[in-house]
Amino acid sequence: MLRSALLNVMLQAARKAGRSLKRDFGEVERLQVSLKGPGNFVSAADRRAEEILYEELTKVRPGYGFLGEEGGRRDGTDKTNTWIVDPLDGTTNFLHGIPQFAVSIGLERDGVIVAGLIYNPANDELFTAERGKGAFLNDRRLRVAARARLEDAVVACALPHRGRGGLDEFRKEFVLVQEKVVGLRRFGAAALDLAWIAAGRLDAYWERNLSPWDMAAGIVLVREAGGYVSDLDGGDAMFAKRHIIAGNEAMHRDLLRVLQQAATT
Ligand code: IPD
Ligand code: CA
Ligand code: CA
Repeated sequence: MLRSALLNVMLQAARKAGRSLKRDFGEVERLQVSLKGPGNFVSAADRRAEEILYEELTKVRPGYGFLGEEGGRRDGTDKTNTWIVDPLDGTTNFLHGIPQFAVSIGLERDGVIVAGLIYNPANDELFTAERGKGAFLNDRRLRVAARARLEDAVVACALPHRGRGGLDEFRKEFVLVQEKVVGLRRFGAAALDLAWIAAGRLDAYWERNLSPWDMAAGIVLVREAGGYVSDLDGGDAMFAKRHIIAGNEAMHRDLLRVLQQAATT
């Protein structure tokens, strides 16, 4: 498969950060059994990966801005392009030795996400997409699942974090959705949830309280795989409102309806 220069830049950075994370993941599995636990070690792994991504991406695209979870916003001279990066999505999984985590890189140009890459170094799955050019898992072209009825759907969601509220709202949503679908899942890495929608593994997904770096790359992946993505009001303000819903056209529409119904109960 022929990749564009842009995707190659992103790929090289992701692979380098991925190697670092994979080494650290091996160490975490070892630290797991010690009483002190791998907590601080993981935040260092996170920061290390982000620095690698920053260095690699700015080396090749020096003017671009950079928004990373760990280091915040670093402005560049080019005001139209910004990398939106989560160096390690799925930290809790990583910390527990669960191989469901990823590097996520999105490129925002004039307010639109034009390219996305999500890479899980634990199983070497690489999801890439560029606006207008399709979405891929490694070399295979991706298409969202064709299933059209919620009663056939496997749906990913998130559970509210302890102490951060949102539990009542989630309970209402959970009860209504649970009754209508085959199964609900909580995998713990938002970027991979979106990548898995693009790959047709999951039929739909919704989550609240996310940040741009959790969603940026996944948004273009889902859309390029023929899927629909919006905020939970059906608009395009995922970053501002911090919530998201994704699926094929029918699943997106029907799940959105159920969630809006939950809000009135
Ligand atoms: C988290 C994961 C998780 C989602 C959280 C995110 P992190 O990102 O994507 O699935 O439910 O809200 O913050 O902290 O592992 O980068
Ligand atoms: Ca994240
Ligand atoms: Ca993170």
